[in-house]
Amino acid sequence: MESPYRPGFGVRPAVFVGRERVLARASAELTRVANSGHAAPAVTLFTGPRGLGKTVTLDAIAVEAQRRGFVPCWIPLDSVSDNVQLLAARVAEAVAPLGARSGGAWDAFRRRLASLSLEVNAGIIKITSGPDAAGRPDRTASRQALGDVLVKAAQIAVGHRQTGVAVFIDEFQEAPHNQLVVLCNAIQDVLTSQTMPPIVFFAAGLPNTPDKVMAAASFTERFNFRTLDRLDRDDAERALIEPCIPLGVTWDADAADAVLGEAAGSPYLIQKLGEEAWLVAEPIPGAAITRAHAEAAIVQVREDLDAGMFRGRWAKATPVDRALLIAMAQVADAEGTARTSDITRLTGKSTPQLSHTRKSLIDKGIIETVAKGQWRFTMPGFADYVLRQAEAAS
Ligand SMILES: Nc1ncnc2c1ncn2[C@@H]1O[C@H](COP(=O)(O)OP(=O)(O)OP(=O)(O)O)[C@@H](O)[C@H]1O
Ligand SMILES: [Mg+2]
Repeated sequence: MESPYRPGFGVRPAVFVGRERVLARASAELTRVANSGHAAPAVTLFTGPRGLGKTVTLDAIAVEAQRRGFVPCWIPLDSVSDNVQLLAARVAEAVAPLGARSGGAWDAFRRRLASLSLEVNAGIIKITSGPDAAGRPDRTASRQALGDVLVKAAQIAVGHRQTGVAVFIDEFQEAPHNQLVVLCNAIQDVLTSQTMPPIVFFAAGLPNTPDKVMAAASFTERFNFRTLDRLDRDDAERALIEPCIPLGVTWDADAADAVLGEAAGSPYLIQKLGEEAWLVAEPIPGAAITRAHAEAAIVQVREDLDAGMFRGRWAKATPVDRALLIAMAQVADAEGTARTSDITRLTGKSTPQLSHTRKSLIDKGIIETVAKGQWRFTMPGFADYVLRQAEAAS
């Protein structure tokens, strides 16, 4: 039988758990926009380390938004594109199917797109000149053009009896600073515009995203920043066991315990370990996944992480970063959480002395601050890898 697990990035899981509160708040936001016919007051931005489920959470909200009559528009930002132009293009694509019957509003929308070097023909968006070509507008003009494109898109949606436009921006941290300035200002213009179009923005990014957007535009401190945390034990157990139930396969209690302990609430690791255990067990309906299967899966996943993700993270760390990682790993608990007081005692350095290195490791997505005075490895199991590296080097 085919595995019911979905390890990967942005892949919708068979059973999506533990984000009820997040989804309920997003739902309330959609209701508010639908009810008032006006823009949501602020952008909602989900943050969390890699594999925490940011993309699939945005995806679940997008499905709900579409069900409620919003025209959904999805865009991952990246470090090489002109993200301002890209966002306008995605919005144009989303409303293009409504365009033909929009008359004057559509023509005005197309003129605005043209000022960002974008052309729509039969629903296809064409970029008429690259980001560096002559004739591209300056930052202020780009901001105004993008803002107008967003407002007009919402108006076109309403004109077609849609509730409004819902924009989903993933990988927010990827856009270069000067583009973030334009994007954030354009979005702010839309949210505060006199016309107050029914538009709502949800975004996601790594834990350093709030710092990046606030450096781009200070009003973004009023964004709704929501941290996505690891799954608690009950939710983690559901994510692991429930995908198997429709297939008639069960998990032995000690097998599930072993996997859940190893995954430490990481949604990505639950999918990955679940998948490996399934591949080892090759279950038929009525069969169980046993402790032996789980242990074999854990060994396999550790090997994969060592050779891939962990190796990559270690390679990105400078010698100073590594020294701090080793100290952290030495005092971390089983979930990879370390107390700052223990780290300062071990290294003989004060918290301010460590703050530069700490920031560098947070920016690289390797560690995160979880509570006051506590730092954590973003990936369970990395502490152990770090200790093995330190041992190998000594
Ligand atoms: N709430 C959840 N319940 C069950 N599985 C989940 C949940 N959230 C995420 N997953 C699974 O975890 C994996 C990672 O999810 P996703 O790609 O959304 O993470 P991410 O935070 O966007 O990561 P990245 O920062 O790398 O983009 C996927 O395999 C997904 O199916
Ligand atoms: Mg993602």
